[in-house]
Amino acid sequence: MNIVYRKELDKMPVYRPGKPIEDVKRELGLQHVIKLASNENPFGFSPCVKEAVIKSLDEINLYPDGNATLLKDTIAKKYDVMPEMVLPTCGSDEMVDLIAKSFIDKGDEVIMSEVTFPRYFITSQMMGAEIKAIPLKNLTYDIEAFKKAVSPRTKLIWLCNPNNPTGTIFTEKQLQELIEVIPSTTLIVYDEAYCEFVTNESYPKNSIDYIKKHKNMIAMKTLSKAYGLAGLRIGYTIGDPEVLSIINRVRNPFNVTLITQAAAVAAINDDGFLKKVVDNNTEGKNYIYAEFDKMGLEYAKTEANHIIFNSGKDSEEVFNALLQKGVIIRPQNCFNPDTWLRVSIGTMEENKIFIKCLKEVLV
Ligand SMILES: Cc1ncc(COP(=O)(O)O)c(C=O)c1O
Repeated sequence: MNIVYRKELDKMPVYRPGKPIEDVKRELGLQHVIKLASNENPFGFSPCVKEAVIKSLDEINLYPDGNATLLKDTIAKKYDVMPEMVLPTCGSDEMVDLIAKSFIDKGDEVIMSEVTFPRYFITSQMMGAEIKAIPLKNLTYDIEAFKKAVSPRTKLIWLCNPNNPTGTIFTEKQLQELIEVIPSTTLIVYDEAYCEFVTNESYPKNSIDYIKKHKNMIAMKTLSKAYGLAGLRIGYTIGDPEVLSIINRVRNPFNVTLITQAAAVAAINDDGFLKKVVDNNTEGKNYIYAEFDKMGLEYAKTEANHIIFNSGKDSEEVFNALLQKGVIIRPQNCFNPDTWLRVSIGTMEENKIFIKCLKEVLV
């Protein structure tokens, strides 16, 4: 190819999503396949969403409201903030990308965990950042090491709580201590994609309190996980209106579709569904813990809807062997030895199939 592209892209891997069910069925000639690879919601979505989607279909000849006014108002009401403090995006994925484009210049110092949501790394690298990646300590964020790494040069810090892929959290006290040493010129991105699943009391109670106090902190949330709307692509960020107005300049004007806006409003207004999801997730998590304990497997206690575990065997081999049995999970190539995998918590039926197949694979 004769066309010259930005050299930062040379280092960028293509994101590897969880393998789709249909691909596995076709490639392996299987009829029954379960996917526990992308932390999707196995309990579906609120019935109110279906109604809202059907109603909105009558209007798809029109562009969506570029300001997503009703959705912003709904979110603002939920958190008791001004609508100007809310910015919906096409999933949190889009927001990660917009943040990187808006705030990271070539050579800027960016801090993140060594093992965390990979889009932080990829988008920061895309903008030419100098990345300081902090190793985990006991499978959790090493907040003391984060504190030491922060410098007056730090432009942005990515925090994922609960963390993906580990599912582990850092506490309210740790968050407070970390924020204290971060200069007001550093953007703190606090990603709470899995916050609805948390049951641990020491987890930061309300990120909005911090955002109101610290204008340099923004919180990202998504409806892809607990709300079950991954296919519609909707996330939102809460932060200072001035910070969000910068990001808003980079945003595609119609980034959230008309159908998605209607669905998100309906989903956010249905708290009952959310409770069912979280209770089922907790039940599934306890079942998987108990089975891992019986099998003598090492794992991280999770506050999210996924668990990482040490299979004791090559992670790709375990992944492929499970695939042959119609169970899609995810190898985690970021640990040494490379024997760790991540499984999303499914329905009890799916969890039981996963455990049965894992036992067969690990004998
Ligand atoms: C920590 C974290 N942040 C953000 C995202 C992106 O979510 P969305 O589906 O809203 O783009 C994910 C998806 O897996 C995630 O794990």
